[in-house]
Amino acid sequence: MEGEIVTKPTILHLDSFELTATDIAEVPIEVLHAHSIGVRWPHRAEDWQFLLKVGRGIVLQDEIGRPVGSAMWFPYERDFATIGMVITSPRLQTFGTARWMMDHVMQDAGPRVFGLNATSAARRLYLSLGFQPEATLYQCHAVAQRPPDGPLPPGAALRSIEASDFPALADLDAQAFGAGRAALLAKLLDVSKGVALVRDGRIEAFALCRRFGRGHVIGPVVASTDADAIAVVRPHAVDKAGRFLRLDTRERDGAFFAFLAECGLSVYDTVTTMALGGNGIGAPKPGIPRTYAVATQALG
Ligand SMILES: CC(C)(COP(=O)(O)OP(=O)(O)OC[C@H]1O[C@@H](n2cnc3c(N)ncnc32)[C@H](O)[C@@H]1OP(=O)(O)O)[C@@H](O)C(=O)NCCC(=O)NCCS
Repeated sequence: MEGEIVTKPTILHLDSFELTATDIAEVPIEVLHAHSIGVRWPHRAEDWQFLLKVGRGIVLQDEIGRPVGSAMWFPYERDFATIGMVITSPRLQTFGTARWMMDHVMQDAGPRVFGLNATSAARRLYLSLGFQPEATLYQCHAVAQRPPDGPLPPGAALRSIEASDFPALADLDAQAFGAGRAALLAKLLDVSKGVALVRDGRIEAFALCRRFGRGHVIGPVVASTDADAIAVVRPHAVDKAGRFLRLDTRERDGAFFAFLAECGLSVYDTVTTMALGGNGIGAPKPGIPRTYAVATQALG
């Protein structure tokens, strides 16, 4: 049933292990935190707390309560969802755990279009489930350096985001993302600093920045041109100079990527954006807003 929460324990026998599936909302944060640290993911307990506010999922636990698997899904508008936080503990990998969890969360989510960002370890699993590769996402991070000052794009002014900007931001984000996700954006705004680019009284680009993992992450960033995207990211990069900063982007060529290098951000890893049942991320169109940086790999 759509959106049904796992209330009764589901038992999975795997090799010599008997695993119990539990609603992720019932699992203590410190257990989830230890689980993601086990595969060297940088999430803090607070990052898990945020994900639990905006998504649902399951955890597989062994007989003594140790987590060995997790998977989440994040509902958006227009029957779309992203899937993320798919992790199998190293000792139980390649036994079919992740496939079982994927089947479970997709059934829980009901008929939808699904999107995700696949690590190289997970790519084959998602391909075998019918997901199609759409784009490469570049995870850029480093201790940031202060970028040089630059002129604002013609006709543009920058200002901090205010609560009253929410409808305009949600609309811009939905155009770029391809599905509305106002509920997520509202929660991101609660924990982020935001910069908006305004022309003729209208917000045309924005960038949010918040604590995440080892430092701060900039995202989402929505803009229609490289110049506008650079303009909204620059104040965050200046603010975080000398500190650990991350930004995940699909822009590999052009001025925006070159600007990331000026901030000291280099590509640490790449993942593949994949979708099941969607029309795909089309080629960027001039003048149409697009996502220059994702909120996180799990949220898109
Ligand atoms: C990616 C990950 C979740 C896979 O979990 P898993 O429980 O080992 O996956 P499964 O056993 O269900 O395997 C699913 C498929 O991938 C294949 N596979 C799994 N690990 C593999 C490996 N190391 N090399 C080659 N194929 C592999 C399996 O053979 C299986 O293929 P099939 O469906 O064609 O038989 C796990 O490796 C992991 O947690 N990695 C670290 C975190 C991560 O990258 N998560 C993915 C986020 S998108």
